[in-house]
Amino acid sequence: MGADSRIAVVTSDMGIERDEELPTLLAALRERGADAEAVVWDADPGTWGRFDLAVIRSTWDYTGRLEEFLTWADTAAKATRLWNPAATVRWNSDKHYLRDLAERGVPVVPTRFLEPGGQYTEADVDGADGVVVKPSVSVAARDTARYEPGRAADALGHARMLLEQGRGVLVQPYLHRVAEGERALVFFSGVFSHAIRKGPLLTEPGVIDNARIPHPSVVPYEPTEAELRTARAALAATPSAEPPLFARVDLALDGAGEPVLMELELIEPYLFLDRSPGAVERFAGAVAGLGRG
Ligand SMILES: Nc1ncnc2c1ncn2[C@@H]1O[C@H](COP(=O)(O)OP(=O)(O)O)[C@@H](O)[C@H]1O
Ligand SMILES: [Mg+2]
Repeated sequence: MGADSRIAVVTSDMGIERDEELPTLLAALRERGADAEAVVWDADPGTWGRFDLAVIRSTWDYTGRLEEFLTWADTAAKATRLWNPAATVRWNSDKHYLRDLAERGVPVVPTRFLEPGGQYTEADVDGADGVVVKPSVSVAARDTARYEPGRAADALGHARMLLEQGRGVLVQPYLHRVAEGERALVFFSGVFSHAIRKGPLLTEPGVIDNARIPHPSVVPYEPTEAELRTARAALAATPSAEPPLFARVDLALDGAGEPVLMELELIEPYLFLDRSPGAVERFAGAVAGLGRG
């Protein structure tokens, strides 16, 4: 990253309003001499050629406009260097990536995938621990709910509603140990930076609530060796040969207390930069490192 590097930190109207990490990151990049500015992803397509680098951050309105967003990523990647790369963004935009990771040996929350057009019964959405039903494309637990054992009719109704909208559906056992906290481990260019623990979201069974606070009760967290191992295994199993510039690996504990991957966030994760001294500098340093070599 030379003193003249022009860097777009990619956001959205929503991000400009609400992304507290945006000013922090811009300041850290400018501190290193870059000419960094926030740009909304749906800006004029001619914009991207002005930049040496575009770093996707708070493009939070993309889920309802997924195809448009993926097309944007392809276009931007032709005009500038886009991180994370467009192919990574596409792969990571649909939770079917969990299947790829499971096939590559990563410990993942056991997941059944239901597809639009398929015929499903209560047996497909039942489980002794209760189940979680979620759409394959989602953020912030939208259209996601958990069901107690014996409530398979409700779970099936939820799944069918999503399937009828043409959306893929994931069915997972409810991991009760999320009560002890879900872990989020943040990596920059493949190097562990910091972690947090947060409270459970699906506290009330049988309820779809699209106004949930996505990160309740966040506290800094020191991950265990096993958690670091699982997180690194997930990062190593993505289709890209290069480590992502930024990654958040969300882990929960299964019934045996082993860390399992709930989500690998490579598009626009909130990174909890204010929860660890030096985190934003480490991020800016990783951005600078992209310029070398
Ligand atoms: N299988 C599960 N067991 C327990 N809690 C879950 C499970 N799946 C999701 N949750 C809860 O719902 C939240 C959102 O689900 P997640 O898979 O992270 O999707 P997204 O964040 O993309 O909406 C999680 O942070 C967690 O609190
Ligand atoms: Mg999540």
